[in-house]
Amino acid sequence: MITPQKTITLNRVNLENKCYVVTLVWTNFGQQTNLIDRAPYSLMRMFKVKPMRPEDFVFATELANTMNWNMATEDFQFMKSLEPDGCFILFDGSKKVGIATCISYGKVGWFGNFIVREETRGKGAGSLLVKHAVDYLHGKGVETVGLYAYPNLIKFYGNLGFRFDSDFSVLHTPALDGVSAGALPIVGTENIKCIEKFDRTCFGGDRQKLLESIILEEGNLSYYVSEGNEVVGYVASTVYETMAWVGPLTCQEGNVDAAVSLIKAVLAKLAGLNVYVALPKKQGAIAQLLSSVGFKEDFSVARMYSGPVAAKNCIYLAESLERG
Ligand SMILES: CC(C)(COP(=O)(O)OP(=O)(O)OC[C@H]1O[C@@H](n2cnc3c(N)ncnc32)[C@H](O)[C@@H]1OP(=O)(O)O)[C@@H](O)C(=O)NCCC(=O)NCCS
Repeated sequence: MITPQKTITLNRVNLENKCYVVTLVWTNFGQQTNLIDRAPYSLMRMFKVKPMRPEDFVFATELANTMNWNMATEDFQFMKSLEPDGCFILFDGSKKVGIATCISYGKVGWFGNFIVREETRGKGAGSLLVKHAVDYLHGKGVETVGLYAYPNLIKFYGNLGFRFDSDFSVLHTPALDGVSAGALPIVGTENIKCIEKFDRTCFGGDRQKLLESIILEEGNLSYYVSEGNEVVGYVASTVYETMAWVGPLTCQEGNVDAAVSLIKAVLAKLAGLNVYVALPKKQGAIAQLLSSVGFKEDFSVARMYSGPVAAKNCIYLAESLERG
């Protein structure tokens, strides 16, 4: 019986790109077999992930906007106020090279705002950042992590343990025409707890902190529909000076009429604005309504999960791509 001998050699082959080759060699009767011919730079422990600080917001915003994500420093400030330890900066030595954010809602968490500087890509940094964020969420008791992926990255996230769930369209209209709608009751401090409870049953996680910071913020919109004493759906919209995002909306499965009334009630207040919405492609009736008032698809994303699927099959509009 001959015991193979294992040796590891490390060669730096490309100084400029800081790319290393690790060769793991099993030696048997003088024959050599390379078992690993390349190990990512992240293995060399040059990449580090640190919590995002307020002085990093400008870097994060500039990096995000290289992807035309239309972010402002306030967006990162908002993320950090919701999840102070869940916003990350990736460093290559002392240089900032990437960002990611995540948020925990009890057993469900969400991952987003994920980008690595172009010249650093393909060296394992992005994978390291995803794993770091997922570990952070697991440490907070999260069992299911969701994200919205560009279609070309489904395989990348698949390699990191995420499964495809459904296709979403991000739709947009540059100047919404007036939409007529019947009046619906407004969500306020007196009834927000019922809305949060209803949202939990559909979404599967507790979005209290997020919903309160949207719904109770002056200038934003929110309406609900109830039948008997039961809430069957609600919608909220974040309204900026010249644009608005419609969502979250959650509505009882199959209750398309309620969903349509909610969306119309919001759109009636957004005339003239640049309006965005992200909805599952399978929700044809809502897509039709939005198309009839001028919305067009900007791009698609895939909702993916790691861990058990926690959301119920409700009618749904995303709150944002980075928070679910
Ligand atoms: C996605 C991203 C963060 C990955 O960072 P990274 O440091 O390159 O990631 P890693 O080195 O760990 O993994 C690279 C893998 O990503 C995949 N990948 C990255 N960009 C890709 C693209 N445009 N199309 C297809 N696959 C891609 C490849 O599978 C690659 O694997 P390979 O090394 O075997 O070729 C980076 O490509 C990026 O910043 N992209 C632009 C922003 C973006 O799309 N964010 C994600 C929003 S869902």
